[in-house]
Amino acid sequence: MPELSQRITQFTDSVIRRMTRIADAHHAINLSQGFPDFDPPKPLLDALAKIAYDGPHQYSVTYGAKNLRDALAAKHGRAIKRDIDPETEVLVTCGGTEAMMAVMLTICNPGDKVIVFSPFYENYGADAILSGAEPIYIPLHPPTYNFDPNQLEAAFRQGVKAIIVCNPSNPCGKVFTRAELELIGTLATAYDAFVITDEVYEHMVYKPHVHIHLAGLPGMYARTITCSSLSKTYSITGWRLGYLIGPEMIVEGAKKVHDFLTVGAPAPLQEAACVGVNLGDDYYHELIERYTKKRDYFCQGLDRIGLDHTIPQGSYFVLVDISQFLSMKRFAGWTDLAFCEWMAKKIGVAAVPGSSFFKENINHLIRLHFARSQATLDEALNRLANLTQLNDVY
Ligand SMILES: Cc1ncc(COP(=O)(O)O)c(C=O)c1O
Repeated sequence: MPELSQRITQFTDSVIRRMTRIADAHHAINLSQGFPDFDPPKPLLDALAKIAYDGPHQYSVTYGAKNLRDALAAKHGRAIKRDIDPETEVLVTCGGTEAMMAVMLTICNPGDKVIVFSPFYENYGADAILSGAEPIYIPLHPPTYNFDPNQLEAAFRQGVKAIIVCNPSNPCGKVFTRAELELIGTLATAYDAFVITDEVYEHMVYKPHVHIHLAGLPGMYARTITCSSLSKTYSITGWRLGYLIGPEMIVEGAKKVHDFLTVGAPAPLQEAACVGVNLGDDYYHELIERYTKKRDYFCQGLDRIGLDHTIPQGSYFVLVDISQFLSMKRFAGWTDLAFCEWMAKKIGVAAVPGSSFFKENINHLIRLHFARSQATLDEALNRLANLTQLNDVY
C-alpha cells in the first residue's frame, strides 16, 4: 500500500477528545472536554423545532446565512464600536475550530513563524502543522500567567507572520489586560504581523476582569482577525457554529478556504442560532452570573478537598496540581496522561492531562471544567475527595 502523508504523522488525535471517549467507556463524569450538560436557551430550541418543519434544509449561502452574518456584524460591531460589513468582513464557519484553521491556511505559507502563548489550546499545534506554520512558544508564567514583554519582543524580532491570542485563555483562564493587549498590538504593528484572536469564552469573564476585544483597540482592526464561536456562549457545542470577523482582505481569503473545506455551516442550525445572537444583554448577564456561581462552588469544593488549583479569570477551566499524588510510590514515573486515564477508571472523573497544553515539560497539572449541573459537580467533588484517601482506599 502507498504511504499516507507525512503531515498526519506529525500530530496525534486530540487528547481532549480522547479523554471524552475514555470517560464514556468507564462511565466517568466527564470534566475533560469543555461542554455544558445543560440545555441551550429555550428561544433557540423553539426556533429549531419550528425550523425542522419550515426549513431551511439545504445549503445556506457558503459564507453564512445572511441573517446570521447581519446579527454577528451588529453584535461584534457594538462591542468594538465600529461598523462591520456583513458581506465582506464576516464568515460563518463550522465552529471556532474551522475559523482558526481557515485563518491559518489563509495567512501562513510553509515555514512562516507564528507566536503562540504556552499553555495553549491544543488545536493550535495541529493548526500550525496543517498550515505549515512554525510556532514560537512564549511562556505564560504561573501563578499569574503573565508573559515577559522582552521575550515577546524577541520573538517578534525573528520575523513572525502572526500571533495567536486566546483570550480568555483555555486552559489557564487568563484574561489579558488592556495594557497587555496594547503591548501585543504595538509589537504586532511595529513588526508588521497579523493578530489572530480566539475569543470563544468572551462572555465568560468573571468580575472584576473585563473582556477587551483586541480588534477594537485603536489602529488594530486592519491586522486583526477575530475567531469566535456560538458553541460556548449559547451552550450549543454540537451545532458546530463559529465565525471569524476581520478586514475584507483577510476574510475574502478565508472565504475561499472555507468554501472548499466545508462549503458551509449547517443551514437549519444557523437559522436557530441567529435567535441567540439577537438576544439582549440580559442573556449575557445571566450567563456570567450562572458561571460565576459554578466557578466559586467548584473552586471552593476543590479547596475543601485540599487540591491546589487555579482560579480562572475567564473560561470554565481550572488547572489542578497533582504533584502530591505523583510523588507517591504507587504513581512513581507516571505521566499526567496515565494519571488521567487511571482517574477516569478508578475515581470516576475524567480530566485532561496538562501536558497537552504546555510546550514546557509540565507533568503535574490536569485540567477540569465546571460547565456542569450542580448535581454533577457535587458528585464529581465527592469522587475527587477519594483522591485524598488514596492510601486507605486503594
Ligand atoms: C479556546 C478554544 N477555541 C476554540 C474552541 C473550539 O470551539 P468550537 O466548538 O466552536 O469549534 C474551543 C473549544 O473547546 C476552545 O476552548
